[in-house]
Amino acid sequence: MSTKPTVIVYTKLEPFLMDEIRDNCEVIELNSKAPDFRDQMNEALAHADGIIGAGLKVSHDRLELAPKLRVISNITVGYDNLDIPAITQRGIMATNTPDVLTETTADLMFGLLMATARRLPELDRYVKEGKWTSSIATDLYGLDVYGKTIGIIGMGRIGQAIARRGKFGFNMPIVYHNRSHSVDAEQELDACYCSLDELLSRSDFVMLMTPLTPETANLMGDREFALMKKSAIFINGSRGKTVDEDALVRALEEGVIASAGLDVYVKEPLPQDHPLLQMNKVVTLPHIGSATIATRTEMQRLAVRNLLCAVQGVRPPSLINPEVLVDKA
Ligand code: DGY
Repeated sequence: MSTKPTVIVYTKLEPFLMDEIRDNCEVIELNSKAPDFRDQMNEALAHADGIIGAGLKVSHDRLELAPKLRVISNITVGYDNLDIPAITQRGIMATNTPDVLTETTADLMFGLLMATARRLPELDRYVKEGKWTSSIATDLYGLDVYGKTIGIIGMGRIGQAIARRGKFGFNMPIVYHNRSHSVDAEQELDACYCSLDELLSRSDFVMLMTPLTPETANLMGDREFALMKKSAIFINGSRGKTVDEDALVRALEEGVIASAGLDVYVKEPLPQDHPLLQMNKVVTLPHIGSATIATRTEMQRLAVRNLLCAVQGVRPPSLINPEVLVDKA
């Protein structure tokens, strides 16, 4: 009988990383798009010491099916799919993939800001559809970015990388709101901490980058959109549920704000009949913050390291709940 740990791999990994896992573990490979994925997962959990993949919801009920589980390795930086208190209570390690995606995600978010301000997707369609027959009419003009104020809600690693682009690339004054002051951002970027309401009323671009937690769910609703300037643009790179999407649609339809650039939604993929898809000036991306070949490979590499360290009894590099080790010490 094999003494190797058993791990479930439910997201497709680079072949060289699969080989590394197979050298060290018995592997149960599952396809998360298979119709019976849920049943297969629930069955496999009975044997699993570890799980690796992106997006699986792990709640108390699922943990009940996994008596041997020692680690859940998320191939994402966000971990709102994991019930961390329940996982921690069971003494299971949870890991994520910070740092390796910071700059790439900041590039995308800044690109989304630019694309929304200058209406790039809309004007690209305009050219391709043969509508460019003379100089464009003023109603297709965009908004300035250079020198405008950017307000960042959630000044973590990615928020700071976005702020750096704004400050040094586009001479943008930075205001931010966060759970705590960021001394680094204040010193390096001259970023000014303010309340959420003040940030909303001062910013030309409001960039939401906070993780989804019980405190940040529906952070942006009717009241908050009403505090923004009519000319301001809202960008969401956090999670869909940080925004009351109906309130966002109302704010856009009623001209409470100028426009929005979105990478995340309450329901993903975004349903085809969603009202946001009817709005030309809204830029909608398919949750691609970290989606470059190099960055996704680095995220997988880190997640595999987290997994293998944990099943081999070594502290993984990106442990979300270090208290599980303290309890064992
Ligand atoms: C992350 O890593 O959290 C990205 O948003 C992908 O889910």
